[in-house]
Amino acid sequence: MAFNHDLIERKVGLLGVLTALTISVAGFVQIVPLYFATETTVAAPGIEPYGPLQLEGRDIYIREGCYNCHSQMIRPLQSETERYGHYSLAGESVYDHPFQFGSKRTGPDLARVGGRYTDEWHRLHMINPRDLVPESNMPGFPWLADSLVDPAGTPGKMAALRAIGVPYTDEQIAGASAAVEGRTEMEALIAYLQGLGTASRNWK
Ligand code: HEC
Repeated sequence: MAFNHDLIERKVGLLGVLTALTISVAGFVQIVPLYFATETTVAAPGIEPYGPLQLEGRDIYIREGCYNCHSQMIRPLQSETERYGHYSLAGESVYDHPFQFGSKRTGPDLARVGGRYTDEWHRLHMINPRDLVPESNMPGFPWLADSLVDPAGTPGKMAALRAIGVPYTDEQIAGASAAVEGRTEMEALIAYLQGLGTASRNWK
């Protein structure tokens, strides 16, 4: 045994190969079971794919970089669940490509923000946060109220998501453009925010 170890430590190539092998096996053991666990692959109760307007809102959320200041990941700690609600479940994110867990909380976590405020609150807050929260350092996003969602892009986005497993029907995709036609980016973003975490209200 002592001899073998001595050999491994002297041969840097052998050490490298064995290290890579150890890390690979350990990685597989941790990662592969997740692909088969229903907890991580099946939607949590009440979780539905985003509707067309919410989906466009999600893309605006990404485009504007909201995730740089807001997480959507509630940890199972009392201080978090008392403030935000039920801790996040893997099954909540099965239709989220890419998921918006985030890692920075300059502002509060948004995973359960749906229904917490009115649409009008969000509209005013998004135009100028300081009108409602005087000490806020969140930037305003007033242009979202003036720009329209491009209805031509929505069906393609839904078809792409369907290709990676989101169960949109042909009818939903066919009706997607009409559902976002004439809606502002502000409306889309608010529709997205108002849906976040609403399913979790019924969880114990
Ligand atoms: C520079 C960091 C920053 C960015 C970028 C940012 N926010 Fe915020 N956000 C904050 C801070 C800080 C607060 C807390 C103060 C307040 O309510 O304005 C906040 C609060 C919020 C709230 C209220 C949450 C609650 O539970 O009270 C919502 C909703 C929100 N932000 C949405 C957004 C959206 C949507 C975007 C992208 C369009 C965005 N934020 C971008 C920093 C940011």
